[in-house]
Amino acid sequence: MKEKLEELFKLAKREIDGSLTEADLFNVKSKYLGKKSEISSLMVSLKDMTNEEKREYGSLFNKIKNDIELLINNKLEELNSKVSYSFDETKDSNSEYGSLSHITIVSKQVTDILKRMGFTVITGQEMEDEYHNFIALNVAENHPARDMQDTYWLSNKMVLRTHTSCNQVRAMENYGAPIRVCAPGRCFRNEDIDACHENTFFQLEGMVIDENVSINNLIYVMKELLKEVFKTDVKVRLRPGFFPFTEPSFELDCSCLICGGKGCPTCKNSGWLELCPCGMIHPNVLKMSGIDTNKYNGFAFGLGLTRLAMMKYNIADIRVLNSGDLRKLKEFNLR
Ligand code: DAH
Repeated sequence: MKEKLEELFKLAKREIDGSLTEADLFNVKSKYLGKKSEISSLMVSLKDMTNEEKREYGSLFNKIKNDIELLINNKLEELNSKVSYSFDETKDSNSEYGSLSHITIVSKQVTDILKRMGFTVITGQEMEDEYHNFIALNVAENHPARDMQDTYWLSNKMVLRTHTSCNQVRAMENYGAPIRVCAPGRCFRNEDIDACHENTFFQLEGMVIDENVSINNLIYVMKELLKEVFKTDVKVRLRPGFFPFTEPSFELDCSCLICGGKGCPTCKNSGWLELCPCGMIHPNVLKMSGIDTNKYNGFAFGLGLTRLAMMKYNIADIRVLNSGDLRKLKEFNLR
């Protein structure tokens, strides 16, 4: 018995020494120490031995099993230490780093600020129906305002949304009043493309409906927003505008960020940049979406996200943004 056990130990040792992988070692372990191993079946014979023999062979079995286990563990450590990961953190890698796009960064920044002011972010859908894109926003079938928003009509009678304003309607329908929502997203128009016009661009719609909402609330929200986006105090002014879904309607300008309001080519020497159309939501629009106009009123704005990104990163040609041309996009450092 003793010789047999010593022979098994020698065989096990030889196989452990010759193991090249962790899997080899597991196989050796089950072969020599597993339930069906020769050592285990030899151990069964212990029960027929005298007490004295049991003591002697019992400790021999334990010793051999422990020794094999120890050899296996040592070999495992040896194998693992040979798997070397060569990593030199001082070495400069030539690989390119990806990043979010300029518009995604600006969009996230604006929505983060609005979220802190209690706005919920919704996304809506890029393929809209005529009702949500036009009719529910007070733009009836033959309304001249449709000319400016010529878009892509799909064969299923849907349109690629011309603005994010349709989310005003969707939000009122889904959540009712009072409400504060913003909706960043891609919009589409049939445009002749040049440095300032694209057929695909991004807007961010904002809407607040509550009791006694005033134009002052609108101005406050816009000022806070722009102050944080541009990291400087920006002056804003409202000029009268026209949109069928707001009454009164305004164009919100901000003091030119390039010249600080003194006048330069970017602001055509006026000191102001046109930034965000806005206004008090037209009662027809509120009513059509089931809002009680005796109790509630609200304001809305349509921030041009693409334009904002161009201003923030000093991008003169809108076409670069959708081009996917990394050589050009890299010229405008992300901050
Ligand atoms: N949806 C308009 C457009 O794309 C912009 C706009 C104007 C949005 C006034 C508004 C608003 O929310 O109140 O031309």
